[in-house]
Amino acid sequence: MSGSAAIPGYTAGTPAVATSPVTLAEFELMKNSALFGDEDIKALRQSHDVVKDQVEAILDVWYGFVGSQPQLLQSFLGKSDGKPLGDYLGGVRKRFGQWILDTARAEYDQKWLDYQHEIGLRHHRTKKNQTDGADASAIVPFRDLFALIFPVTFTLKPFLAKKGHKAEEVDKMYNAWVKSCLLQLTLWSHPYVKTGDF
Ligand code: HEM
Repeated sequence: MSGSAAIPGYTAGTPAVATSPVTLAEFELMKNSALFGDEDIKALRQSHDVVKDQVEAILDVWYGFVGSQPQLLQSFLGKSDGKPLGDYLGGVRKRFGQWILDTARAEYDQKWLDYQHEIGLRHHRTKKNQTDGADASAIVPFRDLFALIFPVTFTLKPFLAKKGHKAEEVDKMYNAWVKSCLLQLTLWSHPYVKTGDF
């Protein structure tokens, strides 16, 4: 989470972020449920070096996919004219790039956990649009959240393979990314889940 003070709206580690309703102890058990262990942390950290100079190219692919799917692009359209909000897409893109590095850093401390909750709130109607002052739809529908994990991780795999690692190592990094996304998306789901049911 360092070196990112210049990214507008990236408030990780600042007092602007509330404490997560999920505890670190609960998150440890969630990791166990996903069969996520120290090997995965190692593989994610190995992927940091692999992805760090490919962030823009990865984002091009992911944004290309979202842009090609009307039901996804919907979340980024202006409410008044139905046109893509360039500033909103651009603002989110910068934080998305930082998210790639944070995911690869795999430092699961309280600050990270708290920002996970913040990201969930920003997809949910609680905080969507606020960070960028966007006049877009009120909520990212829950039905698309987990589905996007597949295109995001599947299209990441070729980038993980670009730095000469053995197929087995690439698979390990890929699996760790899938598991990390599953765990993060579950944390982001908190505002969508009925009180008491998370
Ligand atoms: C694998 C699933 C997903 C990942 C990894 C992901 C990742 C992210 C990240 C990292 C951010 C920026 C968080 C920040 O402010 O620091 C973000 C914001 C956003 N994402 Fe997602 N997202 C996912 C699913 C979706 C889906 C399915 C949609 C629907 C189009 C979506 C739409 C948005 C929107 C509209 C924002 C801006 C929210 C705001 O107003 O602050 N996301 N996402």
